[in-house]
Amino acid sequence: MKIISLFSGAGGLDLGLIQAGNMIIWANDIDKDAVATYRENIGGHIICDDIKNIDISTLPDADVVVGGFPCQGFSQANRLRTLEDDRNQLYHFFCNTVKRKQPKYFIAENVRGILSLSKGEAIRQILSDFTAAGYTTSVNIVNMADYGVPQTRQRVIIIGQRLDLGEELHFIFPNPTHSKNGELPHWVSIREAIDHFPDPDSDNDILNHIYSAYKVEYRNFTGHRKTDPDKPSPTILARGNGKGGVCAIPHYNGKRRLTIRESASLQTFPEDFHFVGTMNSCYRQIGNAVPVIFARKLGEELMRLEKEENI
Ligand SMILES: C[S@@+](CC[C@H](N)C(=O)[O-])C[C@H]1O[C@@H](n2cnc3c(N)ncnc32)[C@H](O)[C@@H]1O
Repeated sequence: MKIISLFSGAGGLDLGLIQAGNMIIWANDIDKDAVATYRENIGGHIICDDIKNIDISTLPDADVVVGGFPCQGFSQANRLRTLEDDRNQLYHFFCNTVKRKQPKYFIAENVRGILSLSKGEAIRQILSDFTAAGYTTSVNIVNMADYGVPQTRQRVIIIGQRLDLGEELHFIFPNPTHSKNGELPHWVSIREAIDHFPDPDSDNDILNHIYSAYKVEYRNFTGHRKTDPDKPSPTILARGNGKGGVCAIPHYNGKRRLTIRESASLQTFPEDFHFVGTMNSCYRQIGNAVPVIFARKLGEELMRLEKEENI
């Protein structure tokens, strides 16, 4: 399918959709490092600008609009969560794009905290905005570990389908492929995902295999907890060392933080995907991303729908 990607970042979501066979025809992000990473690894079609400067009528027609709209105003870690938060206005751009471009489907990704924002008022408003735009929706809470991502990252994925395609959703949300306990293969552990990497302090030619000097201190607080190598990682973060930097998860050896490459592997980026920018910027691009192998599952479902329509 032909896809417009908003808030594309380094392109975790887009890469998975492309791997499944879809085409991104327009993409945008304000962050110049994320855009440089995207251009080098995915394609030159991304525009670097504040989305508020973009005139929606200039966007091409597309089958699908996707986007992880910025979630600072929605994050559970942020106590000042209000619908009026200026950063939530970016969601309105996403909604207006859907309204004006009328794609067959849309996929919106966000943090779990969006469901409890203003006692559930925000998500009710969001869904009612999408209904007014002419879409039937489903809200899906996902634990990425259930899809083979070595990380217990929880996210909300809203799927929208244009009402004229039917009130019942054709988009079948991908089934889990892994489980904590059960018949499916077991969740993938941190050790399985990153143990093959050489010591970053040794001579090696692994891309982005460098780490933050931010001291490892166990304070039983996000980003400062011991990690169990035989379990999936806690959520790879995009912010949080208290000094404006990103808090990379400690390595299970307790001696250092994860390298950019190791963090990227926990987000299922391929090992030849090169991140551009300062160390902080690279960690942030990775923490912001949708895990690539999960995005690919969404992309495969779009491909299935595309084939079904063409029969
Ligand atoms: C959650 S991340 C999206 C990550 C992406 N979906 C991925 O899988 O890699 C949100 C992105 O929105 C971008 N952003 C924030 N404010 C923006 C604005 N005003 N205009 C355009 N992009 C913006 C940020 O730079 C960030 O890359």
